[in-house]
Amino acid sequence: MKIFNTIPKIREALREIRRDGMTIGFVPTMGFLHEGHLSLIRIAKRRADVVVVSIYVNPMQFSAGEDLAAYPRDFRRDETLCENEGVNFIFYPNDEEIYPDGFATRISVEGLKEPLCGRSRPSHFDGVATVVAKLFNIVEPDLAVFGKKDFQQLAIIRRMTRDLDFPIEIVGGETVRERDGLAMSSRNKYLSPAEREVAPTLYRALRMAKQRIEDGGAEDSEAVKRVMRAQIESADAFEIDYIEIVDPETLIPVANPSSRKVVIALAVRLGAARLIDNIEVGF
Ligand code: PAF
Repeated sequence: MKIFNTIPKIREALREIRRDGMTIGFVPTMGFLHEGHLSLIRIAKRRADVVVVSIYVNPMQFSAGEDLAAYPRDFRRDETLCENEGVNFIFYPNDEEIYPDGFATRISVEGLKEPLCGRSRPSHFDGVATVVAKLFNIVEPDLAVFGKKDFQQLAIIRRMTRDLDFPIEIVGGETVRERDGLAMSSRNKYLSPAEREVAPTLYRALRMAKQRIEDGGAEDSEAVKRVMRAQIESADAFEIDYIEIVDPETLIPVANPSSRKVVIALAVRLGAARLIDNIEVGF
């Protein structure tokens, strides 16, 4: 496994890979890797000859007052995990490499960046789209794998890839969960033991809502959301940011979720952590 810190060096190495006719699978991350990331790496390994993982905590996707400084980092541990998974290249740049003096470009996926998490994090998805576009141009992968837990991010990246004609296949990896259902996230580290204990309430509420829709009752989305809200609030620990039932591609709220594909998505604050989760229905 090779580690690159600069754009020219990784480009040079990947040029050789492409010259030898090998395909490149890419997994962009912000590090502090967990089983969720490793499952994305395994998808890339199965689908491509060479796997590149980027590790970069992207300041552009954090607003003032968010957890940029506190975001957990442990490069040595990440390096070992990547090595064990058979990753070929790690791209581990610093801020000057990604955002040199005078950097002035923003990529904004209008219509998809505003709802859901965009309401409380208005500049977040511009930061994500901009860094992912840069990483795509640096790595030029054949395919890139992103987790479905960040389902709005995945929808935005799919749309950006299509709109800007990146010749890259975008692959969504299933959410990996702890045994009690909590979706794996680097931010779970912020939870106290008591918060960690109630956190699985979120997945229970999502599963209950999916079941209600699949059972085919005449319930509209508002009724389903009301029951979810009551279940989450009964734990007396969460501050709900949103619960929405939306179209998976347009992210537009769906009034009647039966007999069609929808995603039920939520975001909450639990102590110091902002947690998101979602479930697909009708897929
Ligand atoms: O999902 C993440 O870890 C980040 O948003 C990403 C895609 C690596 C961009 O910084």
